[in-house]
Amino acid sequence: MPSILVLHGPNLNLLGSREPGIYGHATLADIDDQLRTRSEQAGIALKTFQTNHEGEMVDRIQAARGDGSAFIIINPAAFTHTSVAVRDALAAVAIPFIEVHLSNPHSREPFRHTNYFSDLAVGTIAGFGADSYRYALDAALKKLAAA
Ligand code: DQA
Repeated sequence: MPSILVLHGPNLNLLGSREPGIYGHATLADIDDQLRTRSEQAGIALKTFQTNHEGEMVDRIQAARGDGSAFIIINPAAFTHTSVAVRDALAAVAIPFIEVHLSNPHSREPFRHTNYFSDLAVGTIAGFGADSYRYALDAALKKLAAA
C-alpha cells in the first residue's frame, strides 16, 4: 500500500518553544499527529522523520525508494538554503515531493531567499504556520488519488 513520508529538517524538533512569534505554538508531535490522523482517514498510511543531521536526511530519503513511499512532504528547514546533498537525494529517488515552510522565507532575511528545492518540487507551500503542512497533505492526497 502506498504511503506518504513527512520529513522535517534541523531544529524543527524544537517547535512549540522555538521562536513562537515566527513558527507558532504547535509542537512537532502535534503536527505529526494531525497529519497522520488526516491521512489515515483518507486510507493512506503516513510516516514521519525528523533529523538535525544532513547525512541522516540523505539516508532516510534514499531508504524511501524501497519502503513504499509514494509521495514526500518535506520541510528542509535550514537545509533549504544550504544543502545540495539533500536536493540531490530527492532528485535521485525521483519520488514526487511538496516543499513546506511554516514561515514565508521570501519575506525574511536575504539568505533565506536562496533555495535548493523549489525547482524540483511539485509545489511549495509557505507562510501558513502548521496549516502549511495540512495544505501540503491535502495536495499530496489529491495527487495520489489521481495517480
Ligand atoms: C523554515 C524556514 C527556514 O528558513 C528555517 O531555517 C527553518 C524553518 C520554516 O518552516 O519556516 O528552520 O523552513
